[in-house]
Amino acid sequence: MRIFLVGFMGSGKTHWGKLWSSQHNLSFIDLDDLIEEQQGKTIRSIFEEKGEEYFRKIESEVLHSLKNKENIIVASGGGTPCFHNNIKWMNENGTTVYLKATPAQLAQRLIKEKQKRPVIMNTSDDKLEEFIAGKLKDRESFYEQAELILEEAKATVQTFAEKILPIKS
Ligand code: S3P
Repeated sequence: MRIFLVGFMGSGKTHWGKLWSSQHNLSFIDLDDLIEEQQGKTIRSIFEEKGEEYFRKIESEVLHSLKNKENIIVASGGGTPCFHNNIKWMNENGTTVYLKATPAQLAQRLIKEKQKRPVIMNTSDDKLEEFIAGKLKDRESFYEQAELILEEAKATVQTFAEKILPIKS
């Protein structure tokens, strides 16, 4: 079983991925952590030193390296499904779940965590929600290609067993 959680930054991919994987005896993989490990650099320095295009290439390669891993829940990065046909690859190689949240919910969470996220790092706090709303609009058509769409605010410890397990590939 391979589950890919997708959704905007701050949508709870890591939170729920960790919780559900420990409950169901699955391994949890955070794609950003794996990229940082493999590159020996933080996401922020990869963006700063090599640029976004390079990051997206590495991100896709690291994603593809999960092809033969079994019994995993993967928290993808917020941009992962939107580049290099990654959403198609994830759909072909596992079950995708979109954790959907509103710009207001996302902004509230991300305001404290902007510094490690280069995409929003330079947006001022008072413009954050508006920025998120715009980016979400661009990205939603990718997120919505997920097999299952979950309203993140309604997710619980039981959601995995009730909603995700029944559709797993
Ligand atoms: C990004 C989201 C981040 C990380 C990188 C780019 C994005 O992941 O991959 O900073 O483009 O939305 P999280 O969603 O885990 O913050």
